[in-house]
Formats: sequence, structure tokens, C-alpha cells
Amino acid sequence: MSAITVRVPAKVNLQLAVGPLREDGYHDLVNVFHAVSLFDDVTAAEPGDLGDPGRPIKVKVRGESAAEVPADDGNLAVRAAQALARSAGRSYRADLVIDKAIPVAGGMAGGSADAAAALVACNELWGLGLPVEDLMEIAADIGSDVPFALLGGTAVGTGRGERLTPLESSGVFHWVFALADGGLSTPRVYGECDRLREARGIGAPQPTVSESLLAALREGDAKELGRALCNDLQPAALSLRPSLARTLEVGLELGALGAIVSGSGPTCAFLAESQAHAADLAAALANDTVFEKDPAPTKDSAPSEDARLLRDA
Ligand code: C5P
Repeated sequence: MSAITVRVPAKVNLQLAVGPLREDGYHDLVNVFHAVSLFDDVTAAEPGDLGDPGRPIKVKVRGESAAEVPADDGNLAVRAAQALARSAGRSYRADLVIDKAIPVAGGMAGGSADAAAALVACNELWGLGLPVEDLMEIAADIGSDVPFALLGGTAVGTGRGERLTPLESSGVFHWVFALADGGLSTPRVYGECDRLREARGIGAPQPTVSESLLAALREGDAKELGRALCNDLQPAALSLRPSLARTLEVGLELGALGAIVSGSGPTCAFLAESQAHAADLAAALANDTVFEKDPAPTKDSAPSEDARLLRDA
């Protein structure tokens, strides 16, 4: 097999409950992940003409925001492929090509998605045949959100977000995402969350999953889901990027059922009533002057979107 392409979705966090800072620098979370139909494609091929023959795993990034993504060993897809080769105990080689559509450093787990896709693609390219449980373990070492990108659909993550339980979800939800120019660093947003809590004398309770959110997902009830969205990192993201408050407000004024910063931000997610409402919302948001950049096209979410093998070339 000479090339494998894997398509992998972005995520939005429907609930992100952040507990106290742990000794290892992470926070205990209850993290309800939800895959949406905004995808990166990662192709793993036998080494060809990507240059630098000394490096066993090379990467090229394509797409509008390609320049913002590291094209060296700092790339999460490269780190994932290296970790997979190490676990197999051999020095495998691959050229990776990432076609990026997921915002970079946007709180939608784009880098984690690429890492998950690289694991699936290289597992196939190198004929390793590792089961998904083994890939999950390697994924958790790469980053807290990588296991979810392998699983897809809707799931709750506990621990630092890597211990996953799939959630029952019915129906299709229609989302609009407002992208901001420039990303937010995830560690910085967590740090700001700790700082704000300390400054305001707010303790960090052990996080628990929202029952109303689970019920809304089970019943496919968009109105209830909109009401139940919550993100403990949102005050920190707004503190670092105050213009996001206005973005969220405009979406709600335009009839969004819910508006939330996605993960550590700065992408804002709006839940619409229907596909037509999502299109109207996207157009109206794009016309509002608070945006540095147009919102992305509308996206749907359904339980079946996971890291999928697209084709063997
Ligand atoms: O796991 P990952 O490398 O994606 O996490 C990036 C950063 O986000 C961590 O270094 C940490 O600062 C923060 N983080 C956290 N608690 C978590 C997950 C991430 O504090 N549960």
C-alpha cells in the first residue's frame, strides 16, 4: 500500500467543567466532546519527494492556515507517527500531508485531530494492524484530546480528558462557528482560569457531568442543548480576548439557541434551530463588524463522525 488518507473531524466542547490544578500540571475535567462536520485530511505515504531524507517522518501542511502549523517534529501528527513507530520497535518512514480545514489553535482540537489521523493512517501504511485500544494509549500520551479524535461521535472525557465514555446522542444539530484571527494558547487559557479563580476567591469544585446536557443529547433536543452548554474556560478566554464577549452576544441576539467559546477558544460556537437558521446566522454574523474574519460555513454534527479511512491509493 503506497498512500492512505484519513479524514478526521473537529470537535466542540458541549460541557467543559474544569476542576483543581493537579500536581502534574493538568486539571481534572469533565469534558463533553462532540464531533462536527469540519474535517482535516491526513495522508501518509511511502517516502517520496518531501525533502530531507535524513528524517524518517516528514510533513507538509496545505490549506489557508498552513503557515501557522509547524512542519517539523513539533507537528502533532509527526509526533504521533514517531510514537507509533517507537511502539512497534522499528524505524518506519512516512511522508505526511495534512490538508487543513480545522482552525489552528482555535479550541477545536485541530492538532489533536491530525495526530489521531496520523495514527490511523500509519498503522495502515505500515501494516501494523494495531487494535484501536493500543492506538488510544499512544494517543493519550500525545495529548488529552487525541483519544477523542480517534473515537468521534459524542463522548464524555474524564481524568485530564483522555478517559472516554461514549454518550447516547440522537438527531442532527446545526452549528455555526465564528473563527477569530490568531489562536489562543491552551496552557495560557488554563493558567488564566486558575488566576481568575484565585483572584475572585472561587474554589475549583470536582467537576461533574451536567444531567440536563445528557438528557438534551439523548432526546436530540436542540433548545435544551443550547441552554445546557457550559464552559469553565470561557471567562478565561474572554479575559484574554475581550472581543469574544460581543461575538457571543451578537449570536444570541440573532436567535442562536446557545453560544459558547469552544474549548480554550477563540472559536465561538453557535447552535442554530435548523439548517436554514444556521445559514442565516452565519450570514448575519459575517456582516457584523465585530468579526475580524468571516465565520466558517455552517456545520452539522451527528453521532457517527469519527476518524475515518477514506481511501487506499
Ligand atoms: O494534553 P495537551 O497537551 O493537549 O494539553 C495542553 C495543555 O493544556 C497542558 O499542558 C495544560 O496546560 C492544559 N491542560 C490542563 N488540563 C487538562 C488538559 C490540558 O491543564 N486536563
